[in-house]
Amino acid sequence: MAKILIVGGAGYIGSHMVMSLVLRGDSVFVLDNLSSGHLDAVWPGAEFIHGSLADRDLLTRLFNEHQFDAVMHFAACIEVGESVKHPSKYYHNNVEATLTLLDVMVAHGVNKFIFSSTAAVFGEPQYTPIDEAHPKQPVNPYGRSKWMVEQILQDFDHAYGLKSACLRYFNAAGAEPGGRLGERHDPETHLIPLVLQAAAGIRPDIKVFGQDYDTEDGTCIRDYIHVVDLCDAHALALDQLLAGGECAQYNLGNGNGFSVRQVIETAQQVVGREIPMVNAPRRAGDPAVLIADSHRAKSVLGWQPQYDDLAVIIEHAWQYIRSQAG
Ligand code: UFG
Repeated sequence: MAKILIVGGAGYIGSHMVMSLVLRGDSVFVLDNLSSGHLDAVWPGAEFIHGSLADRDLLTRLFNEHQFDAVMHFAACIEVGESVKHPSKYYHNNVEATLTLLDVMVAHGVNKFIFSSTAAVFGEPQYTPIDEAHPKQPVNPYGRSKWMVEQILQDFDHAYGLKSACLRYFNAAGAEPGGRLGERHDPETHLIPLVLQAAAGIRPDIKVFGQDYDTEDGTCIRDYIHVVDLCDAHALALDQLLAGGECAQYNLGNGNGFSVRQVIETAQQVVGREIPMVNAPRRAGDPAVLIADSHRAKSVLGWQPQYDDLAVIIEHAWQYIRSQAG
């Protein structure tokens, strides 16, 4: 049984991670400032601490009190558009606060770290599917903030022996199959929850951003990866670090691309009704195609996604939306 601190464990992906580690018997502590997370998403059995990872004194007290075996970091601002408008917020929250956390870890001899990174570190794809060696040329402050932390982690390995795994998510989606946890962003900007909110009548329609991309149906293609599969990859990366593994980076996706239209069509089949769809202009900064090459995670970690069927990913997200609606 390992003692793990999960920063951002009340958020979408973090809450699924907490559930997974509690259920496998780890001792889990959650630090979250609830700026976008939800207290009721913290799985029972985890110990919750309300606070910010930018709070050095709080972190110092926490690390004095507990000898953590590893830290997992899910607490970040994640909106690309907002990052362009408010870069300062992104560099303070995503870079500076993370550096504070890393400093406190080093000071307390905690040297295993799992980091939520993103496909946004690559920028506009130069080839696809995108493997780990693809050039890193992020095109917005969000992607740059994540890439900066990845570089900081390389330096912290060389200087302080801090071992980390950076997991670069493509399009995280879905929910745990029991309908108890799911995606609850405010504002919501992600395609699948927005499509399902339109299906549920919470929104009037789903806007299709751009119809003239260089893809078969003209809409953007993405690689949707089930949140439970993402968490399985984190657990495997954690076990590898706990067993003495070296630093590594992994791209996480299914390797299958679906267009915006295909997502909407699949959602219509899952929910069994027509979903109102409206053509809208392109959203700035959207690459036409983003597909992951996840061979490294499969071969090195033994990762195998269980839910690689888009209909199943959407079905689980739909169960959650219905459970929320009561
Ligand atoms: N889309 C719509 N209508 C909407 C919302 C989204 O057509 O109302 C489209 C987008 O234009 C895009 C696709 O649906 O083509 C997926 O959009 P999401 O916002 O769900 O996801 P992104 O691919 O933009 O974002 C994901 C991650 C980010 C990461 C980014 C990397 O969520 O964290 O990939 O480019 F930065």
